[in-house]
Amino acid sequence: MNATDDITTEESSAVTLDHVTRTYKRDEFEVRALDDVTLDIPRKSFVAIMGPSGSGKTTLLNLVTGIDHATSGRVAVGGEEISTMNEREIAAWRARHIGLVFQFYNLIPVLTVAIARAIVTDPTILVADEPTGDLDAKSAEEILILLTQLKTQFDKTIVMVTHDPRSERFVDAVYRLDKGVFTGAEKGGVSAKATAALQISA
Ligand SMILES: Nc1ncnc2c1ncn2[C@@H]1O[C@H](COP(=O)(O)OP(=O)(O)OP(=O)(O)O)[C@@H](O)[C@H]1O
Ligand SMILES: [Mg+2]
Repeated sequence: MNATDDITTEESSAVTLDHVTRTYKRDEFEVRALDDVTLDIPRKSFVAIMGPSGSGKTTLLNLVTGIDHATSGRVAVGGEEISTMNEREIAAWRARHIGLVFQFYNLIPVLTVAIARAIVTDPTILVADEPTGDLDAKSAEEILILLTQLKTQFDKTIVMVTHDPRSERFVDAVYRLDKGVFTGAEKGGVSAKATAALQISA
């Protein structure tokens, strides 16, 4: 946010989706990857997008980063509507506002470099698609702690797509998708007991 930005009702939102639908054509069929999704992700929050395979998680992330376009509806990031931008505008906007789409795998040493960049370029949001996917419990926890620190120490907004229930206790909220439909957000930390049990066994 800078002084010249419009003050909008979306001021406190990092991400706003307003009746967003994304359909893909596959042969003669239409796949409704996202179906009339309306949601808000608050600034300076760490949220997880969860849902079964094919529920639209990556599609949602791609719309937020401007990699893909909504078929209908409105997408705003940092109070700026991106759904109306052309490719050139989107590319410039992305360089300014989107952190990095990081996938950690086993590159923990590289991570501090990636994080330094995220802080230096000061993007509006950081996005991650399955950052802990391939990791053992300990490494996954390290990543989740690092992401949490990015939020608390550097005021980042982090949107993470994940299948990993271990992440639930680290995030402020879990946004659930099912067959392209947003079924609601709940507070994170709900599975703290289960996660504690998992740590002990790891
Ligand atoms: N480019 C595309 N062309 C056609 N169909 C697509 C395309 N991208 C996604 N889809 C379809 O849209 C639906 C949602 O896909 P998406 O990749 O967003 O799911 P996901 O929740 O990320 O799944 P996963 O957990 O397996 O990564 C699926 O039915 C998928 O096959
Ligand atoms: Mg995906």
